[in-house]
Amino acid sequence: MNVTHLECSLTGERYNAGRPHNLSAAGKPLLVRYDLDAVARQISRETLAGRAADMWKWRELLPLPEGAEPVSLGEPVTPILDLRETARRAGARSLLVKDEGRLPTGSFKARGLAMAVSMARHFGITRMALPTNGNAGAALAAYGARAGMETLVICPAETPEINVRETAAYGATVWVADGQIDECGRLVREGAAEGRWFDCSTLKEPYRIEGKKVMGLELAEQLGWRLPDAIFYPTGGGTGLIGMWKAFDELEAAGLIGPERPRMYAIQAAGCAPMVRAFEAGEEFAERWEGAATVATGIRVPAAVGDFLILRAVRESGGAAIAVEEEAIVAGVEDVARDDGMLLCPEGGAVVAGWRKALDRGLVGKDEQVLLFNCANGNKYPLPDRSRRLTLASARADQLWRREFSGAGKGKPRRFDPAGFPYFWSEDLKYSFKIAPWAPESSPIAGTKSRFPGMILWKSRWIVARLGGDSNKSRAPRVSRLWPRARSGCESPATISTG
Ligand SMILES: Cc1ncc(COP(=O)(O)O)c(C=O)c1O
Repeated sequence: MNVTHLECSLTGERYNAGRPHNLSAAGKPLLVRYDLDAVARQISRETLAGRAADMWKWRELLPLPEGAEPVSLGEPVTPILDLRETARRAGARSLLVKDEGRLPTGSFKARGLAMAVSMARHFGITRMALPTNGNAGAALAAYGARAGMETLVICPAETPEINVRETAAYGATVWVADGQIDECGRLVREGAAEGRWFDCSTLKEPYRIEGKKVMGLELAEQLGWRLPDAIFYPTGGGTGLIGMWKAFDELEAAGLIGPERPRMYAIQAAGCAPMVRAFEAGEEFAERWEGAATVATGIRVPAAVGDFLILRAVRESGGAAIAVEEEAIVAGVEDVARDDGMLLCPEGGAVVAGWRKALDRGLVGKDEQVLLFNCANGNKYPLPDRSRRLTLASARADQLWRREFSGAGKGKPRRFDPAGFPYFWSEDLKYSFKIAPWAPESSPIAGTKSRFPGMILWKSRWIVARLGGDSNKSRAPRVSRLWPRARSGCESPATISTG
């Protein structure tokens, strides 16, 4: 094992790594330090290439003592995909995404909790607790079950239902609370202080970040030991961003990469953007964000104990903290699903939106190599119901395939606006619509009008007007409700086409 000690991330004070820890005496995160000269002697690009493709291949750069078995559910190297069509529509050469949704429990939280639970078991801890917006709770519960531990999680009421149920399925005690994640965290801290359980909140114990840093180690190897020009990361507690920044320094010290670094972009939702506010104000620490709200629940973190580490990494790298609107987050998810066949989580939609904003502002170039993080599987989140209702007794096949209108089928959407056009949900009309950016005269479906006797065009124009948008604008209108709400018994656009 190459761990030399733990270090307070603010004061540099040293701590013995041989026993469990939470925060430093200064109330800040503890970081694991390694003998990196020893690591350099032990691993090389070649030795790494010959190992099994999972997170434990980085053993020399991880804190688990020699001989200690990791608590594992099989943590594979996650793939990096090119979102070609999304990139093309924005005029960019490529857009890489590292898909962390392939990990156990469907999110990157598996990395951090696999590490933290492994270390906890090594130290003989049998009860662990954390506050969560969903994914961390599920991962703690799963790895806790694997390790034979008791686990307890407290989550805000807006936590996606699937996460709450999944967490309980692993046997955890789950509490749904009427507050934000940091408020849930206070209760976890209290219980830990009373000796009821070990507090493994984000960055409040030193090992989750060590698991998360593997994202940085992995991507370096996957990209041929050349880091991308820019990384876009959905930032809540910031563990992954801080972890990757740490990983790059360790890789350099171990002789595996050079001094080049990517610019790090911390993406937050406009409804909860404490890091963006602090970044723009030039502050070292971030004030709590009051009234936090966003569909991207994983980044709904009003206050982060590692705030100064996030801001430091972003600034040192020459990157930025960027806030994105809810509409842009939803459009990010839906555009990538439709154009590239990949269902991002809302936090992944946020980074797509952040990248688009950065392109617009000239912060990233269209020829640069950009890597986004999709931190969870999109199937873990509620999605709007786009299906239409059908009465089989009266249905005819020729009513079903509205290719020209819907753009279904290969190549069709490309005839429309290259920027794409989002769906909007209109509460009062009780329909979900795809708002077409064309006027009827210039419409690509003008020639096929007779197959859709008037109704679709008329209705869609009317709908655009009702939503207050401009029929020539692709991303415009004032919208009351954007992101999935459970709807039942509503009529569907099929009603429109069949008149
Ligand atoms: C899907 C998803 N993305 C991003 C984040 C934010 O991660 P971090 O705490 O590393 O900032 C979370 C955290 O819950 C998440 O679940």
